[in-house]
Amino acid sequence: LSTGKDFSSDNASGAAPEVLAALGRANGATAAAYGDDPCTAQLTERLSDLFEHELAVFPMFTGTAANALALSCLAPPFGAIFCHESAHIYTSECGAPEFYTGGAKLIGLPGAAARIDPAALSAGLAELGKGVTHHFQPAALSLTQATECGTLYSIEAIRRLTDIAHRADLKVHMDGARFANALAASGQTPAEASWKAGVDVLSLGLTKNGALAAEAVIFFDPTLAEDARFRQKRAGQVASKMRFVSAQLLAMVQDGQWLELAAHANQMGRRLGEGAAKLGIALAFPVDINEAFLELDRTVADRLRAQGFLFHPWTAEPKEGSCRYRFVTSFATEPDDVDGLVSTLARALG
Ligand SMILES: Cc1ncc(COP(=O)(O)O)c(C=O)c1O
Repeated sequence: LSTGKDFSSDNASGAAPEVLAALGRANGATAAAYGDDPCTAQLTERLSDLFEHELAVFPMFTGTAANALALSCLAPPFGAIFCHESAHIYTSECGAPEFYTGGAKLIGLPGAAARIDPAALSAGLAELGKGVTHHFQPAALSLTQATECGTLYSIEAIRRLTDIAHRADLKVHMDGARFANALAASGQTPAEASWKAGVDVLSLGLTKNGALAAEAVIFFDPTLAEDARFRQKRAGQVASKMRFVSAQLLAMVQDGQWLELAAHANQMGRRLGEGAAKLGIALAFPVDINEAFLELDRTVADRLRAQGFLFHPWTAEPKEGSCRYRFVTSFATEPDDVDGLVSTLARALG
């Protein structure tokens, strides 16, 4: 596998061979529809072992649907959901959380490197006015781990935020589109990084990490999930052949594949970050996982593009001057892919 010159997204990569093989195996016989199949049962069992907790699991097709379903179980239509102002749910889901919740309000909070500032959460809660008829009512906090800037919250930082949230009777959701990258980078166990740190519901994303299209909403408190299956069906997300979604997830988590693939993606991210730093390029954030944000002059970016490299500007791209560009590696990125980018960058700077 290779991602060549494509650093646009971890979604640009194909699926991991182990996932495709698992789909082939799941194709071998008939199975009960709508999640009543052995593979989905096995998935729940495996996740329950991995997370060391009783849980309710809902396999989904997309991260957006997973986030929106999770939040719809935590927030009523008049609820307020706190998140970082750069959170995917706030900036990039076309109002899906508002749609699934029937109108809950997302409140974007500031904080450096896409981590919510605890003081901003406390201030936001104080401002909201619990019990005031005219105000949205505090319902949930959503954290993204790893963050949209490719940084990590420490467990202590997560704890600080979830403590504030729980003291105010909020439920806590974690957008784990890159949860495996966070685990691989931190060495934390799935339990330490989720419910032990105060997370009530996790959107576990595995598509970016090598699945074809498979995410899971994981409730650590099954009572929060009482409505979830109806909401999931109403959202058109209960796959009739759910075994194929579950088979992808199982292939990833069964023998530690998710962590191996994420560790590789992270390693390629670090290689890229280190290579760029050696060239004197400023990194906007530390490269904690598989994303590097480079401050580049527009002319340098154009030279890279002229050589066929793909990547996205992360701030408004000026006609002249510098801009922040995002480069993403994945399970499929080879060291040569990264070295090819770094040597082209060296020439482009020269
Ligand atoms: C942090 C984060 N959450 C959620 C998603 C949503 O995933 P999907 O594109 O599958 O809806 C993404 C996708 O880019 C993401 O980066």
